Amino acid sequence: MAKIVGAINTSHVPAIGRAIAGKLQDEPYWKPFFDGFPPVHAWLDKVKPDVAVVIYNDHGLNFFLDKMPTFAVGAAPEYHNADEGWGIPTLPPVKGLPELSWHVINELVAKEFDLTTCQEMLVDHAFSLPLKLLWPHAEQCPLPTVPVCINTVQYPLPSAKRCFKLGQALGEAIASWDKDLRVVLIGTGGLSHQLDGERAGFVNPAFDKAFMDSLIDDPEWVTQYSNEEIVEQTGTQGVELLMWVAARAALPGKVSRVHSNYHIPISNTAAGLLVMGCED
Ligand code: DHB
Ligand code: FE
Repeated sequence: MAKIVGAINTSHVPAIGRAIAGKLQDEPYWKPFFDGFPPVHAWLDKVKPDVAVVIYNDHGLNFFLDKMPTFAVGAAPEYHNADEGWGIPTLPPVKGLPELSWHVINELVAKEFDLTTCQEMLVDHAFSLPLKLLWPHAEQCPLPTVPVCINTVQYPLPSAKRCFKLGQALGEAIASWDKDLRVVLIGTGGLSHQLDGERAGFVNPAFDKAFMDSLIDDPEWVTQYSNEEIVEQTGTQGVELLMWVAARAALPGKVSRVHSNYHIPISNTAAGLLVMGCED
């Protein structure tokens, strides 16, 4: 049977792509951010995942305001990055794993999650850049992936409670896959940030840290909050922390904190990184 080895939650910001392309990793602005990743590479070398299930939010690329699924799962043979420029070289497509995608889709629909299934799916920085951060030296992401997309663009958004339940069902679906493969969850988004409006630039380190800590031992802590309350605490786009909630909820049993990093700001974003390992 498939085995979940843990989860990596990380912020995604388009400017990371520019920094990678311009080899700016050691610049003072970027170093505290990129220094977060070598321990994650070491952990990946140790736990050796075969597959990555990536929970991310599209930003109006594959889904726009006219058609906005609450939850969507990719079931394509490959996923092309089609982000809107930013001057970065085009990243090669990332391989899919339709067999696992369809297993997950069947299981989630059986558990009463009404999904949109995507046999074609363009992906943006929220999907592509975390993979590049995790496997920086590979020309193409070395693992096949299953993308799971949660709407954080157009209201109404699914609640933290609902995203937690989605994550739980996703974890059960993965664990019931009849293949001896090792699966890592990746959740991308957050942490606190607001890109526009009166509070542009708003971040909330106290809330971010409380949230990161809660994910280890009390992962349902954040489900006490409505999305409006999460936005109040973390800014309009801080609600992307829902991806972290779902990725954590997919982990079976107790988890340990393998590594974390937190740095303000990257662009207008409080950049968080948290690796959680499953205890055997
Ligand atoms: C930016 C975009 C994002 O999607 C995000 O999550 C954080 C920052 C940006 O444009 O700076
Ligand atoms: Fe984003």
